[in-house]
Amino acid sequence: MKIDLTGRTAVITGGSRGLGEAMAKALAEAGAKIALVARDAQKLEGVREAIRKSGGTAEFFTGDVTREADVARVAGEVTQRLGTAQILINNAGINIRKNLVDYTLEEFQSVMDASLTSTFLMCRAFVPGMKGTGYGRVINMSSIMGHVSLPGRTAYSSAKTALLGLTRALALELAADAITVNCISPGPFATEMNTVVMNNPEANAQFLGALPVGRWGDAGEIGAMACYLCSEMAGFVTGTDLLIDGGWTAR
Ligand SMILES: NC(=O)c1ccc[n+]([C@@H]2O[C@H](COP(=O)([O-])OP(=O)(O)OC[C@H]3O[C@@H](n4cnc5c(N)ncnc54)[C@H](OP(=O)(O)O)[C@@H]3O)[C@@H](O)[C@H]2O)c1
Repeated sequence: MKIDLTGRTAVITGGSRGLGEAMAKALAEAGAKIALVARDAQKLEGVREAIRKSGGTAEFFTGDVTREADVARVAGEVTQRLGTAQILINNAGINIRKNLVDYTLEEFQSVMDASLTSTFLMCRAFVPGMKGTGYGRVINMSSIMGHVSLPGRTAYSSAKTALLGLTRALALELAADAITVNCISPGPFATEMNTVVMNNPEANAQFLGALPVGRWGDAGEIGAMACYLCSEMAGFVTGTDLLIDGGWTAR
């Protein structure tokens, strides 16, 4: 069954590397026009060129998605260059791993803002364009840390759990407009976010020990799930969360 997203414009925050890059490439392969959003122009350009080399359509837009003014500017630029976006993937996020008492307020807020505030701002900017078109897709990147947790993850787990709530409420607000809103909750994937864990043999062994499949996730596996949620086949899937975690939360 082939997923065809031809004619759709997809905005992907955090599209410069990792899971965002993988989803961008998968959606481009399915025919969507891709708007990559992040802060590092050089990395964004690299992903744009890779997509173009494979025959896809992509543009990049630099901006900090935690800033209201940047989001408003990016929204205007995306519409001008790629048309109205009907797919929005709120994938940008950061993690600061330390115990609660060692967090500064700024650090705590930066983790919350990167995942949660950015999702609020991006949805507010892009959802109005989806209304009345008979199709819309919002995907928010939560995490297994929105379901379970580990020491040193108070800010990250707070942000990712809050995204599950935002997703449910927004799904209800938009259901009558045929706009679906869902989360993807990945387990450990081998991306830059996890190099600190992968480079620490003890932590790496601990993570692998908690993974029934015995390996880290491959970013391409997220791309397939995102394509499914964006497809016409997934129109009845809304307000929910798809875990892709190698069995981590099944224990
Ligand atoms: N990897 C995993 O195992 C895993 C597991 C569960 C959930 N997740 C979630 O999945 C998402 C992607 O993870 P990843 O592993 O691909 O992370 P990553 O490799 O660290 O990439 C994060 C992306 O977010 C962008 N970003 C961060 N803050 C931003 C901001 N303020 N404005 C704009 N862009 C920003 C980064 O680009 P710039 O720095 O250039 O802005 C980068 O493109 C995150 O939300 C993460 O929490 C990941």
